[in-house]
Parts: sequence; structure tokens; C-alpha cells
Amino acid sequence: MAARIIDGKIIAADLRARVADEVARVKREHGLTPGLAVVLVGHDPASEVYVRTKAKQTEAAGMASFEHKLPAETSLSDLLSVIARLNADPAVHGILVQLPLPKGLDSQKVIDAIDPAKDVDGLNPVNAGRLATGLPALTPCTPLGCIILAKTVHASLEGMNAVIIGRSNLVGRPLVQLLLNENATVTISHSRTRDLPKVCKQADLLLAAVGKPEMVKADWIKPGATVIDVGINRIASTDGKGKLVGDVDYQGALSVAGAITPVPGGVGQMTVACLLVNTLRAACAIKGIAAPGV
Ligand code: GUN
Repeated sequence: MAARIIDGKIIAADLRARVADEVARVKREHGLTPGLAVVLVGHDPASEVYVRTKAKQTEAAGMASFEHKLPAETSLSDLLSVIARLNADPAVHGILVQLPLPKGLDSQKVIDAIDPAKDVDGLNPVNAGRLATGLPALTPCTPLGCIILAKTVHASLEGMNAVIIGRSNLVGRPLVQLLLNENATVTISHSRTRDLPKVCKQADLLLAAVGKPEMVKADWIKPGATVIDVGINRIASTDGKGKLVGDVDYQGALSVAGAITPVPGGVGQMTVACLLVNTLRAACAIKGIAAPGV
């Protein structure tokens, strides 16, 4: 039987609509308009697309969007001054610095400078540490989206064997903590893992976040498993335009997996929707009002 396709487009649109409802409520009841500032340094074409999408969807949800586009030659001290201003700005509740930064800018120094209360990427060590110790935290958006997608298939992830491929700060590492919070049994694998196909084949829930086009083959997948594909890789296509593929051989996986996210139209859709959730949560926490019901 062909796998069920997990439609990130529909699930993300539903989440954005719920955020918009909550934004309208906090405006009405508390006079609060959540605001998100996105900082883009340089002209990476993919980053420019992401930043445009973020601004559009932030406004569509009824929130304020502030865009800061800086030249690629921006110095670290100038970038840190922008962050300091945003940290102090009461209209800004979320700050996101689009990654990757141009060569020569130390992204960790920039992430460290973001007020943890406004760190809607969840990348500041304060939030990463809070998440790792089981405390409430702002959580990276892509992993949050993965959990929401997995829970559209499984009401509970408790006791499932979850295998993550990739150990990045943006996805793999926070996914470990989020899956532990769901009471899954978690394995994190990476480029040095021995016999990766065998490790993957143990997974009831397989999450691929390595950035290697179609690396995960059908025979790495346990029959009936749920597959969440975080990869977004551009490869050559016959029409010369290039096409987007995930980290999983999607066509092959369709006949083995129980459920799978497509690329595009899967996890990618969820990242921005979760950014809106985090901005709303951050705004409510800063204002001292109850956490929103999304
Ligand atoms: N670049 C690709 N994904 C992300 C993300 O989730 N946050 C930031 N800041 N940059 C990214």
C-alpha cells in the first residue's frame, strides 16, 4: 500500500489560522500586537526568499513585521548594534537573524547577543539549555514543525523508536529533546554512525535532517514507518531549472513507509508557521499574559 502523504501545506495553513485568531484575541483583550524583526545580511538568494515569506506570513497573521536588510560587508560590531536596538525595542517581541551569515561573521556571537526572551529561533544557549533540562523554552521552529507533523499521524509518540539523522543545532539536537519530551525512545545518528541503514531500519519514526539529496533509500525504512524529511536540496533537472528534493528517496519510500512528508510541501511549510507561534508566545511571555492556546 502506498504511504499516506503528510500534507504540510494544509497543516501549516491551519496552524497559521489558529495563530491569527489568537493574535486578534491578544490585540482585543490586551492591546498587544506581537512584532517580529527579521535580519538579513547579504544577498543569499534562498535566504531572500525565506525572509520575504516570513514577512508576508507575519503580516497575514496580524502581527507587525520589521525587516532589516544589511549589506554583506556589515561588520560584527554593526550587526551587534542592530541586535542591541531590537533587544531594547518594545514593539519587537521576536528577533530572527537569517542563517547562514556571510563568511567572516561569527554566527554564534550574533545568536548569543539576542535577548533569550526574544529568541524565536530558540538557538541562544539559554533556550537550548532550558530545552535540554526540560524547562519551558523558545524552541527551534523546524523541529517543532516535525513534532506537529508526526502527531498528525500518531496521537502519541510515547514508546516509539525515533531515529534522527543529523546533529545540527538547528534541527537534530533540539529534536532529541522534543522527542524525549514526547516520551519517545531516541537515537541520534550522523556521518560517523556505523551501518546507518541498519540503524534507520529500527525506526518507527525516521527524521532525516542531513542536507544530502535522496540519501535515505527505500530499503533503509522499516515497513509502515513514519518518515519526516527535513531536507531541502536543489538538484539538476532535465529542464535546466533545477528541482527540490529531500534527504529521502521519496518515490522509493512511498511503497515502504506508512506515512511520509513530501518535499516541497512538508516540513518547510511548518517552519514559518512555527515561527509565528514562537513570536506570539514570546510576546505573551514578555507582556506577562497567559500563554496562547496554540
Ligand atoms: N536558515 C535556514 N533555516 C533557518 C532557521 O530556522 N532560522 C534561521 N535563523 N535561519 C535559517
